[in-house]
Amino acid sequence: MADVWTLLKLLRWTTEYFSSKEIDNPRLNAELLLAHVLELDRVGLYLDFERPLDNAELDAIRPLVKRRGQREPLQYLIGQAEFWSLPFEVTPAVLIPRGDTEILVEEALNRADQGQSLLDVGTGSGAIAVSLASELAGWQITALDISQDALDIAIRNAEKNRVAEQIRFVQADLAQLPQQQYDLIVSNPPYIAQAEWDELMPEVCCFEPKAALLAADSGLDCYHKLTGQAQDRLTSGGWLLVEIGYRQAQAVSELFTTAGLQDVFVRDDYAGQPRVVGGCKR
Ligand SMILES: C[S@@+](CC[C@H](N)C(=O)[O-])C[C@H]1O[C@@H](n2cnc3c(N)ncnc32)[C@H](O)[C@@H]1O
Repeated sequence: MADVWTLLKLLRWTTEYFSSKEIDNPRLNAELLLAHVLELDRVGLYLDFERPLDNAELDAIRPLVKRRGQREPLQYLIGQAEFWSLPFEVTPAVLIPRGDTEILVEEALNRADQGQSLLDVGTGSGAIAVSLASELAGWQITALDISQDALDIAIRNAEKNRVAEQIRFVQADLAQLPQQQYDLIVSNPPYIAQAEWDELMPEVCCFEPKAALLAADSGLDCYHKLTGQAQDRLTSGGWLLVEIGYRQAQAVSELFTTAGLQDVFVRDDYAGQPRVVGGCKR
């Protein structure tokens, strides 16, 4: 008689397989992948542990387990990610939004007591723009990216989260920001230096878009371009806020100061690493 694969048996097998492939949080990855294919939530999985899986279900699960074993990111396999407790569609056209980037959203909200116009540079999936739109009723948000494929996903995410009317999507190079002044400019630009490429996990360097990650000039190129335009593109009292790599706090702060921005600050993330640099036009 053929082996019966119950949900629990498959979950245990998959968890061990993912462990052998050095995947972080193997049990959680296995649960989320199985829950996705079986269209259950994680509680539903636990309630169904003894259910035998049929051949169609096994056939649907096997290739995804194999791809995750080859380090393809879970979020691309299930087509979604969570950011700021909101659901986002993700494909390999966009960076998977990271929890650390929520620090940038927090810092933007801390400075949004006055004003109404905000620019998100390098919007990708739209994670930052959509999250801020969900919090800032009445603000007009511009979400800019060089990649039309990324913007198409961002538009769908704005619709999914019912904030599309608040956001204007613009395809442009951040070297030439729209000729307008904003009360807040936020950006999580590419900031990985070519020399750091080999330090990245396979999930990142083999699957996420290189153009979303790599930046010239030791990773500082986009910060040069953004700070160089800050005085022209910020209203008086407006803030530029950027996410940074953990080794870039000093260099980026100096760029802010050289650009004449005031009250320059560095904010750490919850792991204690420098994560956001900000400065104000006075
Ligand atoms: C690190 S990702 C950030 C995505 C998203 N904002 C997030 O935080 O998850 C950087 C984004 O910048 C975009 N980008 C890269 N170079 C650019 C350029 N020169 N002008 C405008 N956008 C650019 C990429 O397409 C990518 O979507």
